[in-house]
Amino acid sequence: MYNPNPGASAARRHPGYGKGQHTIDLGTLLRADPETLSTRIVAAVRSPGYAPPLLPDVALEVNRLAQSPDTDFRQVAAALSREPMLAGQVLQIASSPAYGGRKMATLDDAVGRLGTNGIRNLVMQVVLDLRVFRAPHFSDLLKSVRGHAVATAHVAHAVARRTSVDPNQAFLAGLMHEVGIAGAVHVIVEAFGRRTPPDVRQFWSSISDVHGEVGGVMAAHWGIAGRVALAIEGHHDRPNKGQPALLTSAVTVACHIASQLGRGMRLGDDVVDRSPVDVVRAAGVHLGLNADAMRALFAEAGALFELLDD
Ligand SMILES: [Fe+2]
Repeated sequence: MYNPNPGASAARRHPGYGKGQHTIDLGTLLRADPETLSTRIVAAVRSPGYAPPLLPDVALEVNRLAQSPDTDFRQVAAALSREPMLAGQVLQIASSPAYGGRKMATLDDAVGRLGTNGIRNLVMQVVLDLRVFRAPHFSDLLKSVRGHAVATAHVAHAVARRTSVDPNQAFLAGLMHEVGIAGAVHVIVEAFGRRTPPDVRQFWSSISDVHGEVGGVMAAHWGIAGRVALAIEGHHDRPNKGQPALLTSAVTVACHIASQLGRGMRLGDDVVDRSPVDVVRAAGVHLGLNADAMRALFAEAGALFELLDD
């Protein structure tokens, strides 16, 4: 059977495992109307036995270190050095044109230059790419999610630099804002086991309806909480739904710019998962971005995307 969590033996031993509805049975999945399926997906990820795709211990440790004000950058470099392949991929991205194109030979170099939060973000980019945004039968959709996530992360960083939002938090929230799509896909793939599921369009409205909530649950499992989790949950919501939403608004605007510039999430030929224009406009107003600032952001994003392709 497909297992998105090959190392999750600890989760399998959770006392609630097998008691909650951590999976959906195939018959229910095929018979359910979209609304019922949405409800079942949420119930599956909220059940006591649910574990999201497992992230490497080093990634979780780097994230924990990055959240502590007492962390010395050498601690992050030391933690990351325990996973040479992961460290190599982080150094490769840190040396790429989107980061200035200066070759970074050592982890100390990279952490010193990008900071603990910047390195945490690259670690998360690598592990999400390898462990989360991949699933059999849904590879085209998840490939477009990967591209959209990285593009949105960079634009969110640019949005944040024009506002009072923390740029590193904005990058992380942009990177993770669609993890719920992958989480819902993993639940569906697990239900099908060895069988080939129908086209993703059959499930798309259910996945789309709950991906914010599913993503928030996954982030909490990984130790990512607070405003980043709220941004994941609410990136399609109108601002001021009772949360401190500047970070959320930054992700909403970044997601929109990425989609407008050809880095949206795709289902076949269609660009999907766009926020309504009035929600994007309200998010921009919430951030204090006027028309000139939005034009400048579009220009900056276009230049960034060319660097990402180099
Ligand atoms: Fe979304």
